[in-house]
Amino acid sequence: MRAKRGSPPPRKAVVAAVCALIVAMSGAPPGHAWCDFLTIFNSGDSNSEGGFWAAFPAQSVPFGRPSVGPPAGLLTGRLEHAAQALGIPFLSPYLQSIGSNYTHGANFATLASTVMLPNTSQFVTGISPFSLAIQLSQMKQFKVRVLELVLEGGSLPPEDIFGRSLYTLDIDRNDFPSNLAAVGSDGFKQYLPQVVDQIAWTIRELYAIGGRTFLVSNLAPVGCCPHGCVVSYNDAVEQYNILLKEALRRTQSSLAGATVVYADIHAVKLELLRHPADHVCCGYGGGASNFDPRVYCGNTKVIDGTAVTATACADPQNYVSWDGIHATEAANKLVAAAILGASYLDPPFRLADHCGLQPIG
Ligand SMILES: *[C@@H]1O[C@H](CO)[C@@H](O)[C@H](O)[C@H]1NC(C)=O
Ligand SMILES: *[C@@H]1O[C@H](CO)[C@@H](O)[C@H](O)[C@H]1NC(C)=O
Repeated sequence: MRAKRGSPPPRKAVVAAVCALIVAMSGAPPGHAWCDFLTIFNSGDSNSEGGFWAAFPAQSVPFGRPSVGPPAGLLTGRLEHAAQALGIPFLSPYLQSIGSNYTHGANFATLASTVMLPNTSQFVTGISPFSLAIQLSQMKQFKVRVLELVLEGGSLPPEDIFGRSLYTLDIDRNDFPSNLAAVGSDGFKQYLPQVVDQIAWTIRELYAIGGRTFLVSNLAPVGCCPHGCVVSYNDAVEQYNILLKEALRRTQSSLAGATVVYADIHAVKLELLRHPADHVCCGYGGGASNFDPRVYCGNTKVIDGTAVTATACADPQNYVSWDGIHATEAANKLVAAAILGASYLDPPFRLADHCGLQPIG
């Protein structure tokens, strides 16, 4: 990926991870598709969104969230690329009732999902009703239905798939903004252990239905935008990530035969966001960031008496940030590559040891 306007290329660590991936992949014969994981079950939020627009077609979400969806595949981004590298086709959203095929797993993620049960409605604050506990219930229901319908085949995985699946969790960013404003960052820090406990509990529940391999993304630098970082947010995010990492280690050691991997998305994203000249592709205002929190991507607002619209750039491949909140496709590829390259994972987990990785992109 070229960086915007003469800014330095992605920093060394990310480049190293991408190189590691290319080396890892070159060991696999072309088109080779062996993999220990035949399916992926993903829980998450807009970073791996699949279901929101299936459940609420053509609904615009209030409170500044994008009223137009970004280009197809953008939100599913890094999950999609990681899956592609494992030779797993696009995952159907669990909430998509028409045309779904769950042979290779299911995507339970919806835009604006939280780890904790929301105390508010989607129609009030835009928070998804499909929080992590609901997504877990859906996963359990999915297994029950697979066992019931096992003879029908067609668009469901085999009944013995649950131990040979990769369970990905990429959720927590919406637990931050929705609460930070209300309780302040100090108040929020007291709430962090509950979020982490909920994730650890979810992994134990998934283990109980057969899951053995879990890949959990940490919290990206949500307090940072291309225009800088908010210190109090950042502290809370870093503290959250430390707690999460510890909880995942404890969870792994308490579950015989389980691999619980912490994916340091935060480090990858921070590297990407530190480009001084990075602009938002779909934003408004020009200047150093082309980002104005009053007008999100696709929206039109009257500012200083003039109606202005935040429109998309023509070359998103040159940007890290799509809309000031979500990563671009190009950045998602770098994040996916960094995950596949193992150096951002704890414990070090080489997917290349489990699958003949295929090129992404
Ligand atoms: C919702 O309220 C309950 C009870 O007051 C609380 O335990 C829970 O943490 C709250 N959830 C969120 C997301 O604020
Ligand atoms: C679902 O996808 C699998 C694998 O891609 C394919 O073999 C199967 O025929 C599909 N099922 C239906 C009903 O299209």
